[in-house]
Amino acid sequence: MAIEKRPEALARAVELREAGPLLASGHRMPAVGFGTSGLAPGIDTEEAVKCAMIHGYRHFDCAAKYGNEISVGVALKNSGIEREEFFITSKVWLDSMTYEGTIESCHRSIRDLKCQYLDLYLIHWPASPYKQPNWRDINLNVWRAMCDLYREGLVKSIGVSNCKELHLDDLLKSEIPPMVNQLEVHPGHAQRSLLKFSQDRNMVIQGWSPLGRSKVVRNEVVIEMARKYGRTPAQICLRYDWQLGVVPLPKAVNIDHVITNLNFLNFEISDEDMEVLHKLENAQVGFSYEDPDM
Ligand SMILES: NC(=O)c1ccc[n+]([C@@H]2O[C@H](COP(=O)([O-])OP(=O)(O)OC[C@H]3O[C@@H](n4cnc5c(N)ncnc54)[C@H](OP(=O)(O)O)[C@@H]3O)[C@@H](O)[C@H]2O)c1
Repeated sequence: MAIEKRPEALARAVELREAGPLLASGHRMPAVGFGTSGLAPGIDTEEAVKCAMIHGYRHFDCAAKYGNEISVGVALKNSGIEREEFFITSKVWLDSMTYEGTIESCHRSIRDLKCQYLDLYLIHWPASPYKQPNWRDINLNVWRAMCDLYREGLVKSIGVSNCKELHLDDLLKSEIPPMVNQLEVHPGHAQRSLLKFSQDRNMVIQGWSPLGRSKVVRNEVVIEMARKYGRTPAQICLRYDWQLGVVPLPKAVNIDHVITNLNFLNFEISDEDMEVLHKLENAQVGFSYEDPDM
């Protein structure tokens, strides 16, 4: 059966799209995105993306750096699903951090993904004052290219990833400020003050590694809480992000994981239990230790 004809997947896709946040561009982002990092190019990526679509994902988090956009594109094209049903993100990598490099990288991602336009284009990692003396100019030139791509309609929304307050300062003064900040967000590394800073400035947050690369789902506190709510540990992690106003981007290949990760909208973690989960940040459970300034 063609993917778009599966009624249960269609209903889930509609529910996730309607529940998702509205971006400053006026476009809506579905409430969960499927992470594509770490999927080997070729049949592995094609099958993983197809499996995700079969079960109702329409939002895919891609990047030039992941090296598999051609294979994601094959799966999108073969799905028979209309382009408008998808929400496709890509990101400009560190090796293309100039005005021209960003324009070129965006065109390449669109071509590889075979998707005519991107729903969201992000700066993957900002230039850092601890690494590049001219970091401000680098970030501003890349942002200028992002704004031009947005004005041209090649990308429907623009934003950043892994940006802290310092990196955001200049970009927020732009005529078109960032609409999204994609950050590592899970109970072991929630970065709540940066979330608030970004959200107060009208940015939607996407949460990468929402399961702490599976380390948080193996944590005893999370497992115990999952038992209490009659949910899986992964659903506790995804719901935690959602209650912080964050759209989670879990990656999964295992089919049970793919399915369970779609179901976190219909229960609520109490304020008391959110506090219990916040405490995991003290032990930095599942933290990647990736930081733009280190
Ligand atoms: N912007 C950035 O700098 C940045 C950085 C890192 C990641 N990302 C994005 O975020 C996405 C997700 O991050 P990630 O892959 O690092 O980590 P993650 O989603 O937190 O964890 C993925 C791992 O968790 C396992 N898993 C998935 N669902 C599960 C479940 N329900 N129960 C138990 N285990 C489960 C997966 O196993 P199986 O695959 O075997 O199912 C995989 O080993 C990436 O794919 C990428 O799109 C962005």
